[in-house]
Amino acid sequence: MQVVVFSTKPYDRQFLDAANVGRHQLRYVEARLSPETALLAQGAEAVCAFVNDQAPAEVLEVLAGLGIRLLALRSAGFNNVDLTAARRLGIQVARVPAYSPAAVAEHTVALILGLNRRIHRAYNRVREGNFALDGLLGFDLKGRRVGIIGTGRIGVAVARIMQGFGCRVLAHDPWPSAEGLALGLDYVALGALLAQADIVTLHCPLTPQTRHLIDAAALARMKRGAMLVNTSRGALVDTRAVIEGLKSGAIGLLGLDVYEEESELFFEDLSGQVLQDDVFARLLTFPNVLITAHQGFFTTEALTAIAETTIGNLTAFAGTGRALHEVPAPG
Ligand code: NAI
Repeated sequence: MQVVVFSTKPYDRQFLDAANVGRHQLRYVEARLSPETALLAQGAEAVCAFVNDQAPAEVLEVLAGLGIRLLALRSAGFNNVDLTAARRLGIQVARVPAYSPAAVAEHTVALILGLNRRIHRAYNRVREGNFALDGLLGFDLKGRRVGIIGTGRIGVAVARIMQGFGCRVLAHDPWPSAEGLALGLDYVALGALLAQADIVTLHCPLTPQTRHLIDAAALARMKRGAMLVNTSRGALVDTRAVIEGLKSGAIGLLGLDVYEEESELFFEDLSGQVLQDDVFARLLTFPNVLITAHQGFFTTEALTAIAETTIGNLTAFAGTGRALHEVPAPG
């Protein structure tokens, strides 16, 4: 099958080629999928896209016009696709439902540990010959309360690790998972979790219901000085409200692997350019904020699994007309 792969980086190519072993004709393009680039899919039957590729109705209409019948996402999340429009246009949407929950969970814990012990600041200080400890004071994780919002594959993996540190894990999820219950997680209402947790970490998907789940009202309910971590999707958090929370001290520590407007920034080397996003620039000024550029998924194991499942989706679609991991349209 002819497939156009959008947002290709050298590592995507390496892992997809290894998984494909010549089965499909993969045409790699570096551009992100957008209304301006959708025509690059001309001549293909399927399009392969990643987290910051955009597939609203207007893009899907162009793809359908080109005869594209499958949109194979290399991600678990699918908030960037208009599923209703895809169904109307006869484009099947497939994804990689679980590629390595451990990869994202371990990165979440890296942010928690790094922030708590100020590793980002200590690293720079030591390199400058500054061996003072002022400002690096952390706390023992043992005995602390960690609040996990969304206890699916990744949330449960985070819970398991934090239990290993001796934390008490609170959880909020409208649909508590069997694994979460088996781990003995303390399922509570969102308000109770926010009020009690020393660390709040987000692992629910981005949907219309969860957009700005952490807004000014939610921040006001959090323990003063608590840590907030988001490795799920940027728009779960109202960034402007979080900035106010950091300024007032309501939030003590903030760890982000995702950002509301990340599609304009992440995955690119912009170090030689003037940063145009003033909100992001403000975030970078806080000493108690640690940001990574959506690298939770970036492990050998996860990239191998993403590539293998994606090729599996393409192969199944080519053979039977149905991808292995189809995303159903709403309703
Ligand atoms: P999952 O589908 O296994 O779990 C999501 C959980 O969130 C489910 O248990 C669901 O019931 C729950 N949930 C839904 N609405 C909720 C709400 N309003 N409040 C609380 N919980 C709610 O998904 P998985 O694999 O654990 O991934 C979670 C998210 O992590 C994905 O949606 C994706 O956005 C993000 N992700 C980030 C990556 C990164 O590189 N930083 C990589 C992979 C995923």
